[in-house]
Amino acid sequence: MTFDEVLPAVVRALESWDDCPSGLKVAVVRDLRGRIRLAVELDSDDKAVLVALTARVRREVGPWFTEETLCTRTGKVPLRGVAQRILDLAPEWPSAKWRDALGVERSATPGRWRLLERRMGKLPWLEGEVAPPWPAEPGAPTVVAFYSFKGGVGRTTTLASCAIQAARRGERVAVIDLDLEAPGVGSLFGVNADLGVLDVLVEHLATGAVDVGSVRRGAVGLPENLGDLIDVFPAGRLDGRYLEKLSRLDFSGAATGTEAPQIPVREALLAMLQRVRETVAPKWIFLDARAGLHDLAGLSLHGLAHLDVLFSRANAQGLAGLDVVLGALSRRRRDAASRMVLVHAMAPVSVDEAKAERSRMQGETHGMFVRHGLFPASKVPELAAEDGDHRPWTVQRVEAIERNDRLDVIVRDLEGENFKRVWEQVVLLAESGQEDAGS
Ligand SMILES: Nc1ncnc2c1ncn2[C@@H]1O[C@H](COP(=O)(O)OP(=O)(O)OP(=O)(O)O)[C@@H](O)[C@H]1O
Ligand SMILES: [Mg+2]
Repeated sequence: MTFDEVLPAVVRALESWDDCPSGLKVAVVRDLRGRIRLAVELDSDDKAVLVALTARVRREVGPWFTEETLCTRTGKVPLRGVAQRILDLAPEWPSAKWRDALGVERSATPGRWRLLERRMGKLPWLEGEVAPPWPAEPGAPTVVAFYSFKGGVGRTTTLASCAIQAARRGERVAVIDLDLEAPGVGSLFGVNADLGVLDVLVEHLATGAVDVGSVRRGAVGLPENLGDLIDVFPAGRLDGRYLEKLSRLDFSGAATGTEAPQIPVREALLAMLQRVRETVAPKWIFLDARAGLHDLAGLSLHGLAHLDVLFSRANAQGLAGLDVVLGALSRRRRDAASRMVLVHAMAPVSVDEAKAERSRMQGETHGMFVRHGLFPASKVPELAAEDGDHRPWTVQRVEAIERNDRLDVIVRDLEGENFKRVWEQVVLLAESGQEDAGS
């Protein structure tokens, strides 16, 4: 038996039981190690029923099962209270399914099942609806997360381009490095600081204080004083103490029932964003999000950010990851599709090749949007529609950028046509988000 098969097997054990007691209610607790324990509510206090029930489940899932089954009517009195508490806490499990002897998938008895998942991490990726720290309103900073599943696709470079373009419009930008395990923002923007975002987070975890002032630095080396409008919050000094601090980030959360779990790093990040908003008063806050399915990325996307810029190369590895990410985002926000900009990253230099690659990628993203219910049912755009939310915006390879990662050298390249279109799209979505909030 594999992990994936355990829950359906538990459901099958009881749903296929001919003498299953009526009025049986079951809460399945899947513990931190992935093992199953049951808490049940029975109409009768017949011990034999409980023994039979436990035996059936044990037979189905073997070593994935842990003794003992808790019951509200039989067993030691304190444990009856525990059983009741678990049944109260566990959220309903309407999607409980099993396969009958013919292999036909069947839904479980409505109202019978509850499921309490206990997890070691990845809570932000698995939780339901979330909202950024403040609504998208005129006058409030728009928080934008730059994210990719695979690394090295030009995420930080495009973020820098957007910061420069915002500054050109006279708009203040705060750039925050949340790629804490592979930081790069400080070096790209020429900033040298002793303290960084990691220091802010560990201080908040310990004391509740938030000091962003000693972390904030102006971007260095940009022409026409553009750097005066770009405030950089680097990750922190990469010395021997960096790992010690990194090891203190706590992404676990006490998740009980249906409430959003209190994740210590999320609380710290929310406090930090509030403080950046108060002290810097930027028009934009750009988050350089961690790649992959890291908790920091899960926290950022839709949870801290109003808009997500999602990068992928048009290759199998990148797109397989994007698919998983879109699935998670579709559960986090009802209007997820209109809150994201897709970027077709590292496209070929040749315009024709880049176009062909983009339309192949757009075919893939269309499929993903349909699969994850990201299009409104009444308005599924054509696959090739230029104005569909699934349309990726191409950023081609530029040789000068490849050879250099100093902003002052590549600043002209970062204002090329491709980058302009990505930025226009970000601005468009930010404005439409504010209109939605105002209406
Ligand atoms: N459009 C581009 N054309 C050519 N090279 C690029 C382009 N964008 C970025 N690069 C180069 O590719 C490398 C990775 O870029 P960047 O650091 O922006 O990617 P990233 O997705 O943030 O990577 P990481 O996952 O390491 O944070 C850098 O050397 C950068 O100079
Ligand atoms: Mg990066």
